[in-house]
Amino acid sequence: MKLSWTYGALAGLLLLAAYPAAAQQAPRPPGWAIATAHPLATDAGVEIARAGGNAFDAAVAVSAALAVVEPMGSGMGGGGFWLLHRAADGHRVMVDGRERAPQRAHRDIYLDAAGNVRPRASLDGPLAAAIPGQPAALVHIAARYGRLPLARSLVPAIRFARDGFPVTERYRRLVKMRMAAFNTSAGRVYLIDGEVPDVGDVIKQPDLASTLTRIADEGAAGFYAGPLARRLVEGVSAHGGIWGADDLSGYQVVEREPISGTYRDIEVTSAAPPSSGGIVLMAMLNMLERWNMNRVTEVERVHRIVESMRRAYRDRALYLGDPDFVAIDSGRLTSKDYARALSDDIGAGATPSRELDPPRGEGRDTTHFSILDPAGNRVAATLSINYPFGSGFMVAGTGVLLNNEMDDFVAKPGVANVYGLIGGQANAIAPGKRPLSSMTPTFLETKDTVVVLGTPGGSRIISMVLLASLKFAQGAHDAEQLVTLPRFHHQYVPDQIVFEPDAIAQATLVGLKLKGHALKRRDSPYGNMQAVIWRKREHRLQAASDPRGEGSAVVLLDASR
Ligand code: GLY
Repeated sequence: MKLSWTYGALAGLLLLAAYPAAAQQAPRPPGWAIATAHPLATDAGVEIARAGGNAFDAAVAVSAALAVVEPMGSGMGGGGFWLLHRAADGHRVMVDGRERAPQRAHRDIYLDAAGNVRPRASLDGPLAAAIPGQPAALVHIAARYGRLPLARSLVPAIRFARDGFPVTERYRRLVKMRMAAFNTSAGRVYLIDGEVPDVGDVIKQPDLASTLTRIADEGAAGFYAGPLARRLVEGVSAHGGIWGADDLSGYQVVEREPISGTYRDIEVTSAAPPSSGGIVLMAMLNMLERWNMNRVTEVERVHRIVESMRRAYRDRALYLGDPDFVAIDSGRLTSKDYARALSDDIGAGATPSRELDPPRGEGRDTTHFSILDPAGNRVAATLSINYPFGSGFMVAGTGVLLNNEMDDFVAKPGVANVYGLIGGQANAIAPGKRPLSSMTPTFLETKDTVVVLGTPGGSRIISMVLLASLKFAQGAHDAEQLVTLPRFHHQYVPDQIVFEPDAIAQATLVGLKLKGHALKRRDSPYGNMQAVIWRKREHRLQAASDPRGEGSAVVLLDASR
């Protein structure tokens, strides 16, 4: 269990396990809480806290560090959503650094002459890569919300890229899964002599260190213009990709109003389109609010949650896409009235998905981190290059591994993507469009408690955040309880409940089967949730990193208070 562990002492800060301090009126948290998917990324956040940064500076440092030490999950060749809460004025915003389709992309780009989807064309190699948003987002967050210069916040990542990080079991597993897609440059960096490295071997990325240094020195122009941009465009073009210089110079970060709503006494703030996360999460919570979930049998509880998932994921496939390209009625889709209409036909048995109106589809690996600082600033950020190690294509001489986020678009209506998701026109490919995402960085808040959470996990991200939200609503206010919770999932199509081994008791499985649900036990657990919690009344902070992953969580108490 990687619950907020003792970490040592820093100048002016004490790092302790969950802090049972004497309760006092606490307008501000008693320190920092940071949970990330990699211990070195957590260290980067700690370093920036110590250097006088705020949560936003720490978020920049953690994002860049993850890009180096967890290259299977996110990177400077990818994108993400950073959900921010600024304590001073309550300003909440989602920084959208999602990748965009290049201008030469079009609806049928992954189809062959017969109109069939070309296998793996949207997954492997530079044609699968959309224009990265992470570099621009980090520059934007540092400039608009940070206290420290960007260059300071990038120091830990540059150091990790130059000096290396140690190989872990998870790294080995995911390299094995994706090494067939690696081009020569990626193979040189992530393999040793063409083989999967051993645990403890050190992976150094001098080219990525140079790229990060260039961004530190020049800001966004260091990536999106000049020699690096030229190299990216040439490298992509030489191997069948379609990026142009204008795609890079035209990339823009967008600030979007988060999706917000309530579930009982909990205020929910989550990701806005082009993520489906916030809308699908709110729709499910709104449907489930109709019932007292504590007063139903376990079979009935799982059944209702699954039926809500089915309906909300159906809407995802039908209606959601990039809001700059398709009109999305977020207000209606997240309203209580709409949820009532949607859930009126939830009965005693399973509703076959084929009986719901058909729709005319997304990331496994990905990463998430959660940060709260002593001023009360918060960041929940979910970042991705989509599939583990993205497209497997690294542009020679840059250290930049490209995403394969184009697979989050619908290559052809009704044809599932790598995560089994389907969709229609709303998420069809168009030049400059952002692919629909499931990333769901989220804040949950009651009068007394603030939770910052999220997880990677492709299409299952939203259902994981739902289950954690329901657990919180049930009174589970420990970060550890939220990240360890057993998981189950339904995404409309395929019409089945997927569940972690041991997530659902045998008797409940029998009851669900009798109701007509198809059940699929997974061989392995999924998700990698990172959560931090501030219990205001108790003046207590907690941070927890999902034991399914290899991350770490710390609480740093401000010894000056
Ligand atoms: N590629 C993962 C997501 O955006 O949901």
